[in-house]
Parts: sequence; structure tokens; C-alpha cells
Amino acid sequence: MARPNHNSNGSIEAEVPKAKLSKKNLRESLWLFQYIKPYRVKFVLGLIVISLSSASTMAFPYLLKQLLDSITTKSYTNYFTTPSGIAVLMVALLIVQMFISFMRVYLFTQVGENVVADLRKDMYKRMITMPMDFFSQRRVGELSSRLSADVSQIQDTVTTTLSEILRGVLTLLIGMSLIFVLSTKLAILMLSLVPILVVIALVFSKYIRKMSKNTQDQLADSNIIVQESLQGISNVKAFSNEGFEIKRYSKSISDVVKLAIKSGQLRGLFISFMLFSVFGIIVLLVWYATGMMQQGLLTFGKLTAFVVYTVFVSGSMAGFAEFFSQLQKTLGATQRVRELLKETPEPVSINDDPLFDQYKLSGSVTLDHVAFRYPSRPEIPVIKDVSIHAKQGEQIAIVGPSGAGKSTIASILLRFYDPEAGRLLFDNKDARDIPITQLRKQLALVPQDVLLFGGSIYENIIYGKPDATKEEVEAAAVKANAHNFIKGFPEGYDTVVGERGVKLSGGQRQRIAIARAILKDPVILILDEATSSLDSESEALVQDALNNLMKNRTSFVIAHRLSTIRNADKIVVLEHGVVKEAGTHKQLLEIEGGLYKSLSTLQFESSVN
Ligand SMILES: Nc1ncnc2c1ncn2[C@@H]1O[C@H](COP(=O)(O)OP(=O)(O)OP(=O)(O)O)[C@@H](O)[C@H]1O
Ligand SMILES: [Mg+2]
Repeated sequence: MARPNHNSNGSIEAEVPKAKLSKKNLRESLWLFQYIKPYRVKFVLGLIVISLSSASTMAFPYLLKQLLDSITTKSYTNYFTTPSGIAVLMVALLIVQMFISFMRVYLFTQVGENVVADLRKDMYKRMITMPMDFFSQRRVGELSSRLSADVSQIQDTVTTTLSEILRGVLTLLIGMSLIFVLSTKLAILMLSLVPILVVIALVFSKYIRKMSKNTQDQLADSNIIVQESLQGISNVKAFSNEGFEIKRYSKSISDVVKLAIKSGQLRGLFISFMLFSVFGIIVLLVWYATGMMQQGLLTFGKLTAFVVYTVFVSGSMAGFAEFFSQLQKTLGATQRVRELLKETPEPVSINDDPLFDQYKLSGSVTLDHVAFRYPSRPEIPVIKDVSIHAKQGEQIAIVGPSGAGKSTIASILLRFYDPEAGRLLFDNKDARDIPITQLRKQLALVPQDVLLFGGSIYENIIYGKPDATKEEVEAAAVKANAHNFIKGFPEGYDTVVGERGVKLSGGQRQRIAIARAILKDPVILILDEATSSLDSESEALVQDALNNLMKNRTSFVIAHRLSTIRNADKIVVLEHGVVKEAGTHKQLLEIEGGLYKSLSTLQFESSVN
């Protein structure tokens, strides 16, 4: 999901739901500090700098007062009490401010960016090592928004919100004390008004936040329409449903507008109320103060400083509502990030371990009364009872009607999922006793629908064996009957494919996947309809390549076209998750009324016609 990185416009709000600012949630989010820990020196330095910055900001009105009151002073004790002396001090303070502001941004950017990078790396690592089931229950968009929106929200807090809060608190504390020092009477008057205003503002803004959340939810809904219709654009066009989609989107957007206008009205009301109240209070204070000045209880400079401090203080009070909402969002984001990091990954090894000798497979595979259902759909038993034994180097064909569970068996062999009953054995060893990475290193899958990565064809093939040489890559492509069509592209092996590149046909993609598998040179090969998208001529060629590839290794071939598996050592006929028949082509044809025989007759007839 594309979204602009941490900016404070609506897009973050649309995607980062909030959490309650409860004690428990706050404690939970302290977990985040373990990410700040490596950069703690800079972080603490940053906090110190912020304190200095607040202090120097607060000193400014005080100097202003000195400057204004110095006009009426008769005798100066030293240079720094003269008007020019005070002006020099103020300029010096400004220079200090400059330096401090730079340091603040610099330090917090460093901490924030590093924290976020560490967090993103950890999250990505966790995501990519999660078992397959994790992905079937989540949408990719949702996962990638964990990495983008949620983490950006956290970044905003680490880099800005925390420092703003600290600054706000300091401004409030220092400002309040100075206000009292300047004039207790005025301060008490001010304090009897401002807190009431703050309470009203809090209630008001809570309501506004609720309203704008509705708008954001609605906006998110309409974004889903855009995403889904663009992802399935060929469907939309094939069914001439452009008009339908436009209407659907327009309606959704109109709802957004309605809600947004309503919450806009409320915001407008809020802002005008606040403006009136804040300036009303100032007018009242100044009016009262003029009375005091007439009695000689207050100097002009003091009044000016008082007003400026009051603005500072009420400004920081008002800011707390925003901090509050930011903190809530960050808590929500932290929770979701933490949830992800709490998930248990697959025990894959992410280091580039060599293949350990004790796990080298010879290639015999046994499925022993295996049963399985997808965790995401536990009510449907997909594999009920499947036993298949493949001796080293044998070619096992799996055939059967669509939905029988053939691809599921491929997934079980790759240990994408574990059987819920029965055993999966490699070389008579339970599959679970072989480290998952060591096992998968020795298996290769040419899947039913090949997805290429964004990158060159070369990169896509070498994915099968990252340390292969250029010659090896090309040799694999030649064997997969892919070399010729690749050479046909102007950029040859450097042709960029994938979402942003050249679109390859289904058959071309399959051949690249086959080249990838050839390059991997696995002990056990799994072909799931590997030649289904090829025309008869290329199929014959690729089949030839596959036959070569299958020599000297155990292979599982899932096929609809029975002609391609006639020579298999064993054909397993699967239906509704149960092995119906098993044997050689010849044996299976001898079963009167058998499933294989009838499938075979059907296909033979249709190919004759
Ligand atoms: N990830 C999944 N989550 C839940 N159910 C699934 C999943 N993948 C497949 N299924 C279900 O499992 C059953 C078997 O699917 P499978 O893909 O193994 O069939 P298949 O024999 O390969 O069919 P085809 O010949 O059409 O490829 C189907 O009913 C399917 O709906
Ligand atoms: Mg399938």
C-alpha cells in the first residue's frame, strides 16, 4: 500500500487506529525503549537540548520585559542593564537558540531514523520467516502497512511528539512560575479562566476526533475499492464494469465528503470558539492589568511579559490534546507491531549455512496415512488419507480432478504445512527432525502459477542458486527451453520482468521457473502442472528437458494431461483427498471402471477429435 511517509496530513490518521491511553498500554509501549537503548546517549542529549531550548525560549519574554522597562530606568548598574546591552543579550540568546534547534533536529532525527530502521528490519525478518499459514490469514496490504504506517507513526513520536511533550511540560512549568513571579493577582485571574477553557476544549476535541475517525474509516473503505478494482482491472474491463466501479467509488467518496464536511463544521466551530475565548481572556487580563498599572502595581514591561507567557502557557496546554491523540495512535501502532513481533516464526535458518552432511537426503519420500486441513479453513478436511512411497530416483505422478488436493500435497512435501495426522518421512526420517532450511534446500518446486520477482530474467533464474555463474544460468535456461525466447528480447537476460517490467506469457514464466529449478539441482523435484501453459510443441521440448532433469532424482509430477506422465514409475490417482488408485500406467488401465481409465479415455477421445 503506497502512502506518503510520515507527514502529518490525513493519510497517517486514516491508517493508524488509536489505542486507549491506559496504564497497561503505556507500560506495554515502554517496550519500545529497548529500540531506543542503543542510541540512548543521543536520545538523552536530545532531551537535554530540548530542555535548554525551552528554557531559552522562556527567557526571551523576560529579556523583553527588561528591555521595555529599561526605558524608564534612571541609572544602569552595568552594560547589560542598558537597552543596547539587553538587546545584545537577546541576540546572543537567539544564536544559542539557533544552535540548539539544529542539535535538537539533528539528534532526534538520528535516533528516530535508526530506531525505525531497526524496528523495520526486525519486523520484516519476522514476517518473512512466518509459516505459510500466517500469510493465508492476512492480507499483504495489511502487513505492509505495519511496516509503513505503524512504524512511521512510532517514528513521529520518537522524533517529534516526545520532544514536543517535554517542551510543552517545561513551558508550562516555567511559564506558570514566571507568571506568578510577575504578578500573583493576574496569575490567579488567569488560572481561574484557562483551566475551564482547557476542559471544554478537551471534551470538544474528543468529539471532533470521533467524527474525523468516521471520515477516515470511510476513506479507507473507498481506498479498498480503488485497490481491488485496479488489481483486478482485467476483470473490470472484461465485464465492462467501469461504470459500476465508478458509481461505487463515487458513492463512497460522497460519503467521505459528507462526513468530512460535518467534522469540518465542528472543527470550525471549535477553532472560532477557541480564538474568541483565548483572545477574550487576553483582553480581560490586559484590561485588568491596565487598572493595576494605573495604580503603579505593574510596569509596562511586566504586562508585556505576562501576556507573552500566558500565550505560551495556553498554547502548550492546547498542544496537549494533540499530543494525547498522537500518543494514542502510537500506542495503537506499537501494539500492532508488538503483536507481529510476538508471533512464532518458522525455525528457518536465515544465515547462509552450507548443507550439513547429516541432513543430506538420498531422495526416498514417504507419506504415511497423511491427513491435513488448512488452519484457515479447519472445517474442511482437504487431505483425508494419503499414503505415497517414493523410492530414491523414482518418478511419482499425482493426478486427479481439480480440488482433489494435489497442490496441497506439494505444500506438505515442502513443509509449508505439517500433516495433522500421519507422517511425512524423508529417508525414513521424520521430516520434523530435519531442519526446515536444510530440507527445503534439497527440494525444488515449479509451482502451478509462477510469480516472477521484479527484476531481470537473469536475477529470476539465479534465485534458484544465488552463487551460480553466468554460464550455469544460461545452461539452465537452455535446458528449460527458455534461452531462445530470452535471447529474442532486445535486452536478453537483462530484460526486467515482474510488475513493473515486461509481462511474460504463462508458458514463458513456467520455463523460467523450470530453469530456476534446474539450476537448483535438487534431490527432490516437485512439478505442479509445470507444463500446463505450454503449447504442444514447447511442451514436448520442455518435457524433454524435464525428463532429463528428473533423471537421478526423486520427482513428484502433478499433471492434468495424462500423456505427460505415462512413463512414471507410479501414478497416484487422488480424489477428495484420498488415494483412489495407484500403480503404473499399464496397471491402472487394467482396472475396470477405474478413475484413471475413465480420465484417460476422456482425454484420449478429446485429443483425437
Ligand atoms: N491456502 C488454502 N487455504 C484454505 N484452503 C485451501 C488453500 N489452498 C487450497 N485450499 C483448498 O484445498 C482443496 C484442495 O486444493 P488444491 O489446491 O490442493 O487442489 P488441486 O488438486 O491442486 O486442484 P487443481 O488441479 O485445480 O490445481 C480445495 O478445496 C481448495 O479450496
Ligand atoms: Mg493445484
